[in-house]
Amino acid sequence: MKLLLITVFSVSLLIVSCTGKDAPNPCNGIQYTVDYFKTEAIGAAANGSITINYPIGDTISYKLNTGAYQSANFFNNLAPGNYVLTIKNSRGCTDTAQITILNYGPKYALVKQVVSGFCGPCHRNGGMSGGKNFDTDSGIIVNWSRIKARAVDNIPTQMPQLPNAMLTPIDKQKIIDWVNAGHRQLD
Ligand code: HEC
Repeated sequence: MKLLLITVFSVSLLIVSCTGKDAPNPCNGIQYTVDYFKTEAIGAAANGSITINYPIGDTISYKLNTGAYQSANFFNNLAPGNYVLTIKNSRGCTDTAQITILNYGPKYALVKQVVSGFCGPCHRNGGMSGGKNFDTDSGIIVNWSRIKARAVDNIPTQMPQLPNAMLTPIDKQKIIDWVNAGHRQLD
């Protein structure tokens, strides 16, 4: 009787350790370097967006915060804020990424577009011509008066520097309107 009990006990122990502790976890080593493109929310509307470039494919699904999983690799109509993107593969393994959607004022959003389009490569993607880089929002905002001086008023000379690269009157007006509104991120 005593022997039988011990036998039963050791068998059940073996089963537990086999299915639980020793089973290889199918999610071990699953880690994604998430590549995404986002647009900020502009003005008072919830109009930010996130598009995932990697990982994508039939077996991958996505959710934001506590929302439901979806197969589409993009999210629209996002309010400004911090989001947790969860990525799930066909085995149910998940990985997450933290993404912040900023809030831009409509005038600043236009200026950011102008700077992104016309001030690179000299002042963008790490460019530091004249000691100025405009990759970050703060890099643009703190330099508002010099951006207006060089790209609108051409003092002391025109920016961008390339021949025939002067901004159009419409683009210059975007900078003027933002400066007059207070030259902040939310203007
Ligand atoms: C083709 C390269 C090039 C492009 C494009 C360019 N810049 Fe420059 N920028 C320079 C160089 C070179 C200097 C340093 C010489 C000088 O100040 O003229 C400079 C200097 C500056 C400075 C610092 C000096 C100062 O006067 O305060 C500002 C501000 C500036 N640029 C703004 C702009 C803006 C705004 C744009 C886009 C609308 C732009 N630049 C596009 C090459 C460029």
